[in-house]
Amino acid sequence: MSTSTAFGVDIGGSGIKGAIVDLEKGDLATERVKLLTPSPSTPAAVAKVVARLVTQAGWTGELGATFPAVINHGVAKSAANVDKGWIGTDVDKVLSDSTQCAVTVLNDADAAGIAEARFGAARGVDGVVILLTFGTGIGSALLIDGRLVPNTELGHLELDGHDAETKASSAAKDNEDLSYKQWAKRVQRYLRHVENLFTPDLFVVGGGVSKHADKWVPLLDISTPIKPAQLLNNAGIVGAAMAAHEKFTE
Ligand code: BGC
Repeated sequence: MSTSTAFGVDIGGSGIKGAIVDLEKGDLATERVKLLTPSPSTPAAVAKVVARLVTQAGWTGELGATFPAVINHGVAKSAANVDKGWIGTDVDKVLSDSTQCAVTVLNDADAAGIAEARFGAARGVDGVVILLTFGTGIGSALLIDGRLVPNTELGHLELDGHDAETKASSAAKDNEDLSYKQWAKRVQRYLRHVENLFTPDLFVVGGGVSKHADKWVPLLDISTPIKPAQLLNNAGIVGAAMAAHEKFTE
C-alpha cells in the first residue's frame, strides 16, 4: 500500500467497523469489515475486537479510531452510550497496546465532520458548519472554515428540560415508534435551538437515518441550509484514518 493510506476503525454501540482508507480519494481502499460490539463493551473486550480487525487486514501502520465519547488527548472523558468503564481510560494507549499500531482516537462525530469537510457535503464551505449525527445519541462536529473545534457534544444540550438526544436521536424515533413526521418535528425544534446558539452557515446531517434523508429533511422548516452527509456509513472510518495520518506525519 502507498503512504497515502491509513486504517480507520469506527467504534459504535452495536458494531465495530474497519477498513484501509485511501486518503487521497477519501474512500475505502478495502472492503469494510464489521464485527459486533461486545457486550458489555468494556475497554479490554473492545480492544480485542479492534485487534482482530487489524490482524485480519494484515495492517501494521497508522490507525485512527472513532469513539462515541469526549476524547481529550486520547483519554475518554464521558461514556453516554458505552460501558462506563471507559471514563478516564487512555483509549489511545489501550488500542495501541492491543494492535501494536500507532493509534489516534477521536470523537465519532468529529471524525465524520472532518471527513465531510474534506470530501463530502461540507467540502469547500467556509464559515461555521455543524455536522450532527442522529443515531443512538446525537453527535456533533463544529467546523470553522474547515477546521474542527473538537468535543462540542451538542447532542447533550438541554432542551425543554431534557437531554436533547433522548428526544431527537434516531433511537428515540425507534423506541417511541415515531413516524418521520413526528420525529422531524422534534429534530426541527432541536435544530432551531442549535441555530439560535451558533447561526451556522450550513448543517450537515448524518448517521444511519441520513440514508433516508428524503423522508425527513424536506419536512424541516429552519433558516440554515441543510445537507445530508455524503459519506454515509464510511464517514467515521475515513475521518479516523485522516486524523491518524495527519497526526503521525506532522
Ligand atoms: C456522545 C457523543 C457521541 C454521540 C454519537 C453521544 O451520546 O456523548 O460523544 O459523539 O453520542 O455517538
